[in-house]
Amino acid sequence: MHEIHAQRLTSRRIAPIRPVPDILEDASAGLLQAPRSLPPKYFYDDRGSRLFDAICETPEYYPTRTEEGLLARHAGDIIALAKPRHIVEFGSGTARKTRQLFDACQRRQSTSYWPFDVCESMLLESGQQLVEDYDWLTVNALVGDYLGGLLHLPRLDGRCLYLFLGGTIGNFTETQAGEFLRDVRAVMKPEDFLLLGADRVKEADVLHAAYNDDAGITAEFNLNLLRVLNRELDAGFRLDGFRHEALFNPAAAQIEMYLVSNCGQSVRLGALDRTLELAQGERILTEISRKFTAPGLEAMLRRAGFDVCRHFEPGNGYFSLLLARPQ
Ligand code: SAH
Ligand code: TRP
Repeated sequence: MHEIHAQRLTSRRIAPIRPVPDILEDASAGLLQAPRSLPPKYFYDDRGSRLFDAICETPEYYPTRTEEGLLARHAGDIIALAKPRHIVEFGSGTARKTRQLFDACQRRQSTSYWPFDVCESMLLESGQQLVEDYDWLTVNALVGDYLGGLLHLPRLDGRCLYLFLGGTIGNFTETQAGEFLRDVRAVMKPEDFLLLGADRVKEADVLHAAYNDDAGITAEFNLNLLRVLNRELDAGFRLDGFRHEALFNPAAAQIEMYLVSNCGQSVRLGALDRTLELAQGERILTEISRKFTAPGLEAMLRRAGFDVCRHFEPGNGYFSLLLARPQ
């Protein structure tokens, strides 16, 4: 049994075409001078990925449930239009929602799934589960940083459906988002499709609650970044020296998530041989999560070289799923 599974689950590392800075470069560029910030990919070590999964289950975090509902309702349409031989997913995580699409695929057509993520343990664990649950599915896990460009993705014969779900596009700046979508466009064949999930602008209190859940899991997820830095940078961050803060900035239409220093403190960054001096209340920006309007999303896709074929949204307009193809 297990050998059969092993043959249907492979894993390979995707080399970047653009240099992707490592944690040493990112930390020295991002932490040592104000405004201080770090890229979000370092959240997702083994523990961070599990915490993110738990965030998705909190009552306040509506995006996962909303997007899953949209997928459940429209998976049949999406699969009938795209007729994918391959499904390639960026930032796949547990791939739980993707199951809605697998459920809509015809089991007699062989389909390959290509999840692409920085978190290798999550890729292997979810891939193993998928090949056990879908006996017709082949899973080829791709480990890497999607911001490094996508030209080293394997060339796939047959129609591809590319997925970028969860509103993760909102974690990019506008420039990064445009560049990423153009990278995706550049690897697509004329008959391929892209399915993009994105969170929408809405009442500030709903947004605020989604990033400040009562159980404190988002806070723990944010603070987990300090554990990653302590391990990877031989740093001396005290977890009780910082607090989680997430607020909606209406002018920029984005959630901004920070780690705030509770006191004046010096933090040793061993691997950089530097010391970080933080004042009381000083903030490190750990993530933005941009919120979009429906026309804004369609315009963004058009600018990146796509035609929008379908735009699905729930009655309350909380989330968008857009099916697009190369112009
Ligand atoms: N698609 C899932 C997970 C979203 S969380 C969902 O909708 O619930 C974002 C995912 O992207 C995580 O699994 C994280 O490990 C991955 N990720 C973040 N930055 C990345 C990067 N630069 N390159 C590749 N994967 C990345
Ligand atoms: N893509 C998700 C979002 O912006 C990631 C996310 C959700 C997240 N909650 C978070 C990232 C809390 C960090 C902290 O909604």
